[in-house]
Amino acid sequence: MTKSLKVTVVGTGYVGLGTAIMLAYLGHEVVGLDIDQAKVDMLTNGELPIYEPGLDQLLLDSQARIRWTTDYATAIPSADVIFICVGTPPNPDGSPNLKYVAQAAQSIARNLNGKTQVVVNKSTVPVGTGDWVARILEENAKEYHVNRYLVVSNPEFLREGTALFDSLYPDRIVLGSDSAEGIERMKTLYAPLIEQSFEPPAYVPRPAGYVEPELVATALSSAEMIKYAANSFLALKISFANEIAGLCERVGADIGEVARGIGSDARIGPRFLSAGAGWGGSCFGKDTSALISTGLEYGYDMPILQAAIEVNTRQRSLIISKLQMHLHRLKGKRVAVLGMAFKPNTDDLRDAPAHDTIARLNELGATVVAHDPIAMPRARREWQHLNYHEASSVLEALRGADAVIIATEWDEYRNQNWGAVSSGMRQRVIIDTRNILTSRPEGVTLEQIGKRQMVAEPAGQAGAQFADSVTVAGASVAAVPGTLS
Ligand SMILES: NC(=O)c1ccc[n+]([C@@H]2O[C@H](COP(=O)([O-])OP(=O)(O)OC[C@H]3O[C@@H](n4cnc5c(N)ncnc54)[C@H](O)[C@@H]3O)[C@@H](O)[C@H]2O)c1
Repeated sequence: MTKSLKVTVVGTGYVGLGTAIMLAYLGHEVVGLDIDQAKVDMLTNGELPIYEPGLDQLLLDSQARIRWTTDYATAIPSADVIFICVGTPPNPDGSPNLKYVAQAAQSIARNLNGKTQVVVNKSTVPVGTGDWVARILEENAKEYHVNRYLVVSNPEFLREGTALFDSLYPDRIVLGSDSAEGIERMKTLYAPLIEQSFEPPAYVPRPAGYVEPELVATALSSAEMIKYAANSFLALKISFANEIAGLCERVGADIGEVARGIGSDARIGPRFLSAGAGWGGSCFGKDTSALISTGLEYGYDMPILQAAIEVNTRQRSLIISKLQMHLHRLKGKRVAVLGMAFKPNTDDLRDAPAHDTIARLNELGATVVAHDPIAMPRARREWQHLNYHEASSVLEALRGADAVIIATEWDEYRNQNWGAVSSGMRQRVIIDTRNILTSRPEGVTLEQIGKRQMVAEPAGQAGAQFADSVTVAGASVAAVPGTLS
């Protein structure tokens, strides 16, 4: 039987919404609080302000135990546990902007009830922020009561697009606090997850063989560091795959085969070894930069992370280089960009590779036609500074195009009949930055990442010609000649 606690979740973005709705599903009484009135109005009307597969259904199933508000005065005093899930976007120097965390902590403090309440930081924050939040609580609380505010760090590891699965069946739950009571209270809150005693929703079934998450209880500062270290490691794994991919292109090896060969080593593991357009999204860029900036505060360089960022930046410019290799001057050329979200199954556009690609195409004078199955309405609001036409389908995007860039690996793109849809292009050049095409359609020039380019055969000649030279990021090197049928 779940012991139902009263929970307030401050910030109802990608993390806060998932957290609030999941906790209501597990049987707790939840209030979701945001300062954005429009968001709260939508949620009160049963609409979600973000796209996350299955979240609408989980909300329907949990609606009786959740309400939404902008009012701290009604949301905080009755809460046993208060989560801070506000954004921590990067400052221009790479350090995280903690102003939303400070504002949330001040507003929470002014409404604490004077009895013991747990304040949980789920936002990704630098080491030491938990102590800083505790100080804000003490300084701003109406009455100062030592040990009345138990501060816990509970970093979030969900992936947008599979947030429900990640939240219900996590690999581990990290709880960091310098207060044993704070950790105990969090264990009570998460008991249904820790014991996996909840009824799994039919639309997010418990995976076969999954038993229960590992509970990692740590000091406050270690939990804060775990989040940054985890994201940084994943980011550098992707950058490593991309760096090897560049060499594969030069020596005539295939990064897909190489990744399979190294990923099957249990010490390495197969995930996050996909070469492509590089990482994007709201976390990897921000968190690697934040860790470097924390290092700088202590006079400590982090060259591995610096290099991972450099490789990621280079990877983005590679897309345009590959395009220029085939179209040469881009001024006046029509280029279709498929996929705007930073990855499939989300509408999140933050730090999406497609953004930088479109921006560069704008600078170079190309005409851009863009498509995304989900993220176009958000792009209409957030990418007003970019110049592109929207296409309502892949077919429409490709009609008359000189090239197409596949920027996001949506299933809709994976499952296209590329031979058929590309037949309406002016030049059938496909730059597949996500390596989703498994073969080259006849008559098409196909560029992928970490694989030999396949140039369309001259009319009447079967089989693609491998290029006899590959130009990557400015360098031109010989490639092994051959034919692929
Ligand atoms: N998005 C992810 O995949 C992910 C994964 C793990 C961790 N995180 C971390 O979680 C945190 C939140 O990320 P997100 O993607 O959900 O951000 P988001 O921008 O989607 O949502 C933040 C929300 O906080 C609200 N907010 C800001 N100030 C507030 C205040 N004073 N009071 C109440 N609400 C306030 C905003 O209106 C917004 O709705 C960040 O630190 C991020 O690094 C994100």
